[in-house]
Amino acid sequence: MPKQPPEDIKKEIESLVKEINYHGYLYYVLDAPVITDEEFDRLYRRLVELEEASGYVLPDSPTRRVGAPPLEKFAKVRHSMPMLSLDNAFSHDEVREFDRRIKRLLGGGAAEDIQYTVEPKYDGLAIELTYAGGLLDRASTRGDGYEGEDVTRNIKTIRGAPLKIEPDELPGGPPEVIDIRGEVYMEVEEFRKLNRRREEAGLPAFANPRNAAAGSVRQLDPAVTAGRKLYLACYGVGVSEEVRFKSQSDFIGWLKRMRFPTPAVFETAEGIEEALQVVKRIEQMRDSFGFETDGAVIKVNDFGLQQKLGSKTREPRWAIAYKFQAHVATTRIVDIQASVGRTGVITPFAVFEPVKIGGVTVSKSTLHNWDEIKRKDIKIGDTVVVERAGDVIPHVLMVVKEKRTGRERPLPPPRHCPACGSNAVREEGEVAVKCIALGCPAQVREKIIHFASRNGMDIEGLGEKNVELLYSRGLIRGFEDIYRLKKEDLLALPRFAEKSASNMIAAIERSKTATLARFLYSIGIIHVGEYAAKQLARNFSRLEDLYDVTPARIMEIKQMGEKIANAVSAFFGDGKNKETLDTLKRLGLKIQNPDFAAGRRKLPLEGMTFVLTGTLPRPRKKVEELIEAEGGHASSSVSASTSYLVAGENPGSKLAKAKELGVKTISYDELEKMLKKGGPAPSKPNLF
Ligand code: IVH
Repeated sequence: MPKQPPEDIKKEIESLVKEINYHGYLYYVLDAPVITDEEFDRLYRRLVELEEASGYVLPDSPTRRVGAPPLEKFAKVRHSMPMLSLDNAFSHDEVREFDRRIKRLLGGGAAEDIQYTVEPKYDGLAIELTYAGGLLDRASTRGDGYEGEDVTRNIKTIRGAPLKIEPDELPGGPPEVIDIRGEVYMEVEEFRKLNRRREEAGLPAFANPRNAAAGSVRQLDPAVTAGRKLYLACYGVGVSEEVRFKSQSDFIGWLKRMRFPTPAVFETAEGIEEALQVVKRIEQMRDSFGFETDGAVIKVNDFGLQQKLGSKTREPRWAIAYKFQAHVATTRIVDIQASVGRTGVITPFAVFEPVKIGGVTVSKSTLHNWDEIKRKDIKIGDTVVVERAGDVIPHVLMVVKEKRTGRERPLPPPRHCPACGSNAVREEGEVAVKCIALGCPAQVREKIIHFASRNGMDIEGLGEKNVELLYSRGLIRGFEDIYRLKKEDLLALPRFAEKSASNMIAAIERSKTATLARFLYSIGIIHVGEYAAKQLARNFSRLEDLYDVTPARIMEIKQMGEKIANAVSAFFGDGKNKETLDTLKRLGLKIQNPDFAAGRRKLPLEGMTFVLTGTLPRPRKKVEELIEAEGGHASSSVSASTSYLVAGENPGSKLAKAKELGVKTISYDELEKMLKKGGPAPSKPNLF
């Protein structure tokens, strides 16, 4: 039972929870927010403040979504009703056959059209959410269909998953227990960002959004899951206290009213031909969804008929998944070339005979690295199967070995940088081959392109082509040269006219007041992606504060590992880098840092005064230091403004004084617990 605070505080907490949950629903489920992120953050912070002060935390408070400690391993969960799989159909005729089979099985008035529902098939991880007494009680993975894993704390971090079912107009009120099934997935854009961040941090990339979603849910530390932007789409009901829903459309309608996320498209169709029309429409829309879908699921709408039809061992007889044409094609690799990125990594890519895949012409794809080339045994001249999944960058699935003529040529890892000809190196235990030449023009150009990019300093007009041009004319050799460019310089170039030149100069001028987070991302410190840059900006007020930073100080920041810490410290420790930063400042760069105050980690003991008495397990001086380090104040005498008296063995007169003044007394163990607690409120939208 939550503690009961004064009535007005209780009311404010209750209304904040309602308000935040509603705005979370608008944002995460309907994708139609009506307030700004700042307003949302303000509400959230106010709630945290009130909950901390009063100890009153409602069961559906959004703060309950985060903060659970890591687990050793997942507990097993037996599903009350097996989580089945789906039969597949690969052609419209197979779908028609499915319809005929159903009519046959149902007998009787089989001439009549069956009503079907059609929805996209989500390519993610199947999950069962159990609500008891209206509250999200348990979430489990599908596992083998009979038994899955308890991933409740991870699923709670998914903002679109309601923590509570509001009472509603269903006969008999809300169900006492209900199992709701759905799919957890990651959007393609987020998947790409995540992989970019992982590559920056030296971690292996996920193969596809499904693996990324599954890997994120099956994390022992919920903080990691909370850092991944995951979505949920609910499409099925398991055991309910009684069957209250008449049909799939009835159920989906209820889910919507209860603010559950439901499939992006959900339609009912009279008869199989109409259902196939919907399937076609979904297939046409597939690239615009933002998530991966490999098919559409057709279900008999009526739950009564579903029951009559029943299930085979693994699949229900009342549903079928129509699989879309895979976005694959065969083509020939005419060349394997390599490009050099801004960190010097040399990446091989295949050049194909252009081929259309799912309506898009593809002429090259990355081959990632030479280990991958070796593993897939890819050679120049090979015929290969190429896949373009969702709008993910195309990749080579496999080599068609049967088509080999013997004239194919392997391409060994390069010994020299393809851009500058310096020696290429491969470090122990690393897959990447790198060019470590300081002045490598490819790296310089890539660094500048990155610096000026949309998510970087956002200098419109300074994209790949213009960077090439300015570089080739000797006008830019480093970031600082951007700020030395004059309109006349640009006007002298073939691609520029009065308007485009003025626009670019204006964009450069605007970039001078970029935020510290953007700037730190733009300067391309190894391993520092957008998220790490933001975290740094939240913790350091000015750029100069990073000049002498130690790796240890950076590792104190949430989610900052040794690799990032070392890279940041080494970057700022480098005299040349500092010189560049100083030059940038001289050239008029005025970095702003709105993230600092807003996102700074609130220290757990901030605003609290402690007095120590008696014998403590650690030297008093040490304990005082700990308190101060976590933002608290240690005082030697008890007064009305003392927050806590920490009493050890044989406490002195201070204990009596504290009692007299009504100051709370705690043990050393309790103090330690308070020291460990705390951390920042998550910002929205979830950045990682
Ligand atoms: S219905 C008993 N609807 O596909 C019926 N499943 O290949 C099974 N899936 O395990 C669930 N989108 O994880 C259903 N709209 C959808 C779906 C869907 C994705 C998954 C689900 C299932 C798998 C079967």
